[in-house]
Amino acid sequence: MCGIFAYLNYNVGRERRYVLEVLLNGLRRLEYRGYDSAGIAIDSDLTLEAQNENGKCKPYHSSSPLVFRQEGKIESLVTSVYSEVDKLDLDLEKLFLVHAGIAHTRWATHGVPAPKNSHPQSSGEFDEFLVVHNGIITNYEVLKQTLVRQGFKFESDTDTEVIPKLAKFVFDQARDGEGGVTFSQVVMEVMRQLEGAYALIFKSPHYPNELIACKRGSTLILGVNELGGETSRHLFHDVKALTANEKPKELFFSSDLCAIVEHTKNYAAIEDNEIVHIKDGSVSILRFDNEKEMPASVQRALSVLEMEVEQIKKGDFDHFMKKEIHEQPGSLTTSMRGRLKNGIVGLGGLKDHMRTIRRSRRIIFIGCGTSYHAALAARPIMEELTDVPVTMEIASDMLDRKALIFKEDTAVFVSQSGETADTLHALEYALENGALCLGVTNTVGSTLARKTHCGVHINAGCEIGVASTKAYTPQLVWDKRLTLAIGSDKLSTLAKREAIIAGLTKLPEQVRDVLKLDGEMKVLAQSLIDEQSLLMFGRGNNYATALEGALKVKEVALMHSEGMLAGEMKHGPLALVDEHLPIIVIATQDDSFSKQQSVIQQLHARKGRLIVMCSKGDASLVCPDGRSRVIEVPQVADCLQPIINIIPLQLLAYHLTVLRGYDVDQPRNLAKSVTTQ
Ligand code: F6R
Repeated sequence: MCGIFAYLNYNVGRERRYVLEVLLNGLRRLEYRGYDSAGIAIDSDLTLEAQNENGKCKPYHSSSPLVFRQEGKIESLVTSVYSEVDKLDLDLEKLFLVHAGIAHTRWATHGVPAPKNSHPQSSGEFDEFLVVHNGIITNYEVLKQTLVRQGFKFESDTDTEVIPKLAKFVFDQARDGEGGVTFSQVVMEVMRQLEGAYALIFKSPHYPNELIACKRGSTLILGVNELGGETSRHLFHDVKALTANEKPKELFFSSDLCAIVEHTKNYAAIEDNEIVHIKDGSVSILRFDNEKEMPASVQRALSVLEMEVEQIKKGDFDHFMKKEIHEQPGSLTTSMRGRLKNGIVGLGGLKDHMRTIRRSRRIIFIGCGTSYHAALAARPIMEELTDVPVTMEIASDMLDRKALIFKEDTAVFVSQSGETADTLHALEYALENGALCLGVTNTVGSTLARKTHCGVHINAGCEIGVASTKAYTPQLVWDKRLTLAIGSDKLSTLAKREAIIAGLTKLPEQVRDVLKLDGEMKVLAQSLIDEQSLLMFGRGNNYATALEGALKVKEVALMHSEGMLAGEMKHGPLALVDEHLPIIVIATQDDSFSKQQSVIQQLHARKGRLIVMCSKGDASLVCPDGRSRVIEVPQVADCLQPIINIIPLQLLAYHLTVLRGYDVDQPRNLAKSVTTQ
């Protein structure tokens, strides 16, 4: 969904070309979130556009901003920026000792993808205030009517346009009164009027070389790179140390850590209702309170980003999805590091709440898409090893039904991005109802991480492909760890617990082994490329695997695919079976194996076109007449088997997509973090 980015260099010379490239590259890093248009704003030369075409003089002395906006891919923005630069005869080598630029990727919600609806949105003539926005302003219609009455003319269909216009209105009113008004006072007044969720960055020629960002709801990250010396980490362990610090530095705002990691590892996650003001090389954070006239100043520690630049690059792979599927042995290792020592399951983030979780009336897992599937895969083992009932909720459905939730419940929210709107609304609902809320996310500083009572980071590393793959398997591992941690230590379950712990440590190696099926999955994909539909049957631990495998196929390969409970087959889906429709049956060894054998027989009896996934060495058991295609995978503890079984299905979805000629990393109509309901 929308992404915002800003770059400000201070006391360090940067050519205009460099500034442009940092901004455009920032957008490329945000590309994976999903978008349909993009834009940037930089400074022009002082002499440029002192008057507009009507001969009206600009109402400020600094240089006018230059705004570039395009629909479509970032690269079409790049082309239009450079051709515009040529037309304007703009000096790309011009050096700026300080320069503030802003950038945006837009996912259309209000108004079609078009330059006029792209951001930066403007206050109007002379671009006195420019804004990039991630989120939704819910009261924009009322604000728009008021501003229209004040003589403002709107050019876009967006909700965002009210923001820069409101800023200009506030600024003009203050200027007409006594004395001046600071940039942060303007933004604070704007925030007072806005309802909805947002992260905003403001740029204004009235406040040259300053930037302001603020947030309520959507994620906002501040990145800090002090230049010229190894001592920098010690010098600014907190944002306050950056106040009036004349040292050369680069400052970044982003909706996402992925866009700053190549510049710096020092960052601060900005909290709701905070306003960050960058001026004269200093950074101040103010806390906005609607009730209070004056904001309080906030001290914020900088964190060190545990992410490597390699994670956001494709390396030797053609696509991020393929890279991320193959990264799973590593992401599983990192995810488990330090948390599984000598057979003891440590989950530091939960330790203060463990008693409450164990005494819960029930555990409710809540998520969407792949994260919901990860949660679903946790249910069988959690029911087996804990004495707590487990229920499942798809976040949007929970909200639609206003499902019952009590203060004696533990609500576990699973979300890779930690920013999915449905999940966050369900979280608010659970918090209002007094449940203990636990978050499982892959995104440090995300809203989910900040708003839950406790939780864990799965540490799978940055996931760029829109289809979630390398976060899924660590999510599955995490579920097992939670189960082990809260499960009772009854003697009757001891052997099982020990088997799971032993199995977890061997998993990365076994996943590496399954990845060798890559070539085989490509051949299978080749045989399926012209199909209309693909069914997947699973049960027990692997019901979630069937759902997740089918989701991967439909979202990237754009082929209809359904994951089904094998036990439900005879209650309807059996009617679909013929010699044409391909069906994948997951029949690896566990308690349901014999039932799956029976499913296979029933499908065979109807001449079903089967592809059976089974444990190594079981081919003759699942396919005695040798008529079906077989995918053999290593056998592991039953509750860990979904971690192994999903890998061939991820590979199959990947190859199907490439062979069918579709965009693997950015499937049509999909966004990485779905921040609208
Ligand atoms: C599927 C996929 C989506 C997400 C869903 C929830 O590959 O990526 O189904 O799983 O939108 O996203 P998170 O986990 O970020 O809450």
